[in-house]
Amino acid sequence: MRTNKPKTDGTYNWLQRELRTDHAGETGAIAIYDGILAMSSCKKVRGFATKHRETEKRHLQHIESILPASQRSLLLPLWRIAGFCTGAIPALISSSAVFATIEAVESFVDSHYSQQIDRLSDKPLYSDISDILQECRQDELEHRDEAVKLQVLAPDVFVRGWCWLVGFGSVISVALARRV
Ligand SMILES: [Fe+2]
Ligand SMILES: [Fe+2]
Repeated sequence: MRTNKPKTDGTYNWLQRELRTDHAGETGAIAIYDGILAMSSCKKVRGFATKHRETEKRHLQHIESILPASQRSLLLPLWRIAGFCTGAIPALISSSAVFATIEAVESFVDSHYSQQIDRLSDKPLYSDISDILQECRQDELEHRDEAVKLQVLAPDVFVRGWCWLVGFGSVISVALARRV
């Protein structure tokens, strides 16, 4: 962390691993919108993706400001490919499939950031980092709510299965990014 936190503190090592997952996730989030923009010609979807991609870029810059390059995931190319596919595949199906996917992703990200914020809540030494995570989480909640509102079609069996897969993939990705 680019902060003068005591490195003997157990929170320091835990948080470094968590920030690595956040950095991997925000990298993947930008790639999701790249995938959507590569495949969708729907004006509504493209407007949504363009706007949210900018927010995800800001999130990535926030995390980069507190996590040095040496601590970032070695699997960043994999997170970019996985993110791109996560956006591109539903974009080939329908706009509602795209929005359902974003709902699934952001629901996961909400609980991911929440557990980090909860653990930091009684650690004033890390309040600056907690503030950054809270700002990111608030944006993700807005992305999720907007995606819910924009779904015209209720998800069919295929889209529900796909969203389950996206959630499962997110769990596996976080577990990996904590380590590598
Ligand atoms: Fe984000
Ligand atoms: Fe987001």
